[in-house]
Amino acid sequence: MAYNIHSKEAYVDALEEIKYIDVKEPSNTLCKALCYPKHSINCCMERLNALREMGVVSIVSYGLKSIGELNVLDIGYSSIILLVVLMDGSLAVAKILRTDSRRQNLRGECSILEIVSDNGISPKLIGCNSDVIVLEYVDGTILGKLLEGHAYLYRIKDILKAAIYKAFLLDSLGVDHGELSRPYKHILVSPRGVFIIDYESASTRRKPSNVTSLISGLILRKNKLASNLKSMLRLSYKEEYELKSLLREYKKKPGYDVLIEILSCIKLL
Ligand SMILES: Nc1ncnc2c1ncn2[C@@H]1O[C@H](COP(=O)(O)OP(=O)(O)OP(=O)(O)O)[C@@H](O)[C@H]1O
Ligand SMILES: [Mg+2]
Repeated sequence: MAYNIHSKEAYVDALEEIKYIDVKEPSNTLCKALCYPKHSINCCMERLNALREMGVVSIVSYGLKSIGELNVLDIGYSSIILLVVLMDGSLAVAKILRTDSRRQNLRGECSILEIVSDNGISPKLIGCNSDVIVLEYVDGTILGKLLEGHAYLYRIKDILKAAIYKAFLLDSLGVDHGELSRPYKHILVSPRGVFIIDYESASTRRKPSNVTSLISGLILRKNKLASNLKSMLRLSYKEEYELKSLLREYKKKPGYDVLIEILSCIKLL
């Protein structure tokens, strides 16, 4: 069954009927998820300690995927995403490195989040180390799902504008996300705002190309969602041509003025 958390700030009251596991009581169920797919007592204890130090008091069995008896928000290629409760009763997510991940650790993602989370680009960072990242929980939907549904055009326009603006902030901070050309699962949309998530490929050493990658991924790629969006925005061939030229200009010399020209070319202003 799919649960929905409707409370605006996502406090635990909304989850009364769901199972909670106290992080003070290690169990097989918990360890299997914290050290997936190959668990050991050491691994489990280290991660439980880290979570406790970051203020996590319990894990919530919630989400559409499951590891043994525990429901989880997601099982990614490199990590497991769990819903957790913090000391003050608010909800957060714990992104836990999979034991079979091709990534050595989460340190890179952790240090990028330290830069971007203060600027409201990502969900707020609560704590992180090499195996665990705790972020505020955003009660939202990933952009891909939203575009597959029947969201209103004016909503979509506001969401795209906010996402592009956050990409511009990333460019200005010198952070390249690295995966925004496939934007559908990297933009999380909620009533509280639009957030760019998943910084596993991000870097401060490459030239940032967030705005150009995001817009190309959303509009210029050859796939169904991009062509739907293009027709939703009623972009003509001429406007598409103009957009490509503005993106080239932005790539050469990124700046707010050309960003505004881009937004008005794609009718978001
Ligand atoms: N702060 C958050 N609030 C709510 N949901 C979140 C949050 N962070 C991540 N998620 C959910 O978890 C999913 C996976 O997160 P993320 O992409 O960071 O993990 P990943 O392991 O890198 O996944 P993948 O291997 O697919 O790249 C997201 O698509 C989103 O649905
Ligand atoms: Mg990822």
